[in-house]
Amino acid sequence: MKKIYKAHILYTKEQNRFEVLENGYIVVEDGCVVDISTDLSALKCSDAEVTDFGNRLLIPAMNDLHVHAPQYRNQGIAMDLELLPWLQNYTFPEEMKYADTAYAERMYRRFVRDLWRFGTMRASVFATIHTESTRLLMHLFQEAGMGALVGKVGMDACCPPKLRESVEEMVKGYESLIMDDGQPTGNHQFPPLVQPIITPRFIPSCTPEMLRACGQLAAKYHLPVQSHLSENKDEIALVRELEPNSTCYGDAYNQYGLFGQTPTVMAHCVWTEGEELELMKRNGVVVAHCPTSNFNVASGMAPIRRFLDEGLHVGLGSDISGGHDLSIFQVMVYAIQVSKMYYQQNHECPFLTLSEAFWLATKSAGSFFGHVGSFEPGYEFDALVIDDSDLNHDNYTLLERLERYIYLGDDRQIVHRFCRGNEIAEPEVS
Ligand code: GUN
Ligand code: FE
Repeated sequence: MKKIYKAHILYTKEQNRFEVLENGYIVVEDGCVVDISTDLSALKCSDAEVTDFGNRLLIPAMNDLHVHAPQYRNQGIAMDLELLPWLQNYTFPEEMKYADTAYAERMYRRFVRDLWRFGTMRASVFATIHTESTRLLMHLFQEAGMGALVGKVGMDACCPPKLRESVEEMVKGYESLIMDDGQPTGNHQFPPLVQPIITPRFIPSCTPEMLRACGQLAAKYHLPVQSHLSENKDEIALVRELEPNSTCYGDAYNQYGLFGQTPTVMAHCVWTEGEELELMKRNGVVVAHCPTSNFNVASGMAPIRRFLDEGLHVGLGSDISGGHDLSIFQVMVYAIQVSKMYYQQNHECPFLTLSEAFWLATKSAGSFFGHVGSFEPGYEFDALVIDDSDLNHDNYTLLERLERYIYLGDDRQIVHRFCRGNEIAEPEVS
């Protein structure tokens, strides 16, 4: 089924500049972009039905490369501690509640609905150790038609007993989620929209046996991996004690097959440098930059410009509830502001531009999910239609309109959301 959408289209094929199509057309077939132009008659399939969005903006949907669904209740509270005591005092007690699937359903429905609200159509998500509430979260994404990599969390150390699971239970739980996976999408050109991702929480909460089993699962089932890396100085010191045979934090993951052996995303990397940076480059490990979280739990400022100059692959994450804001548009603003503060303090590199922040949130982060995050032919059509008429009260250019939406807008201006070519309706909450 072919469709043509008409609107003012903005996207970032490249890091350094926006593509801007005033009154542009985009042809979508079987969930993918087939062609894009301002000239209707020059398009492939120009005979398909046109949906005209008028004076609205059409942009790629947002991707969240790092978020904790079971920390949703804690969003916007408990910001007075650094990482390790923050986990023990606020985060672990909340995550324990997810043994109860009724509680999980109530919270997870709100979480998925609010991702939808803010235009995030793909997310790489941490759940908890609990297999049944993780399965439920996967089903909620499937029901919504939104894309997600969902991680049942591996934990068996340095946490309350109720958040520990034996290695055998962890493997059994994962295998049951993997067997569940592969819901029929009706279209086999694509992988399933929702898939498990191997998720050891971080080195301190896993025994070597747990880490080894996670690496083996990733290899056996060709699954991606997510975790946390070099976020906080006390955490890094603890990892040095726990893994004395590794040369750096990243090397500890690497020794267990959890550092790029399959597609891997590591959140934070605030203090990554030297050998760890080289290893990430060599292994193609992706950075999930979470600037709001890095501020809130006082972790530090990640040197994103340096990472980009070194050729590292970077995306943005909300990291709820270390981060307080689920909107990736707001995370873009914080990423730019953090880079400006970093620049002032270090004078070693220019700060991030708007096109770079937008590219990080769309094409760069989207590539962790496939051909996602751009409107080039062959990309999956994940898109948002923005009605900024309430913000557009003067003769702003299209780029100024997008910039104002990023800085000033919210969910009220998002009037249509598409994932893999389908318009996504508001998910139900209970
Ligand atoms: N490191 C280990 N677990 C967590 C978590 O839940 N949030 C953050 N920000 N860092 C972590
Ligand atoms: Fe996190």
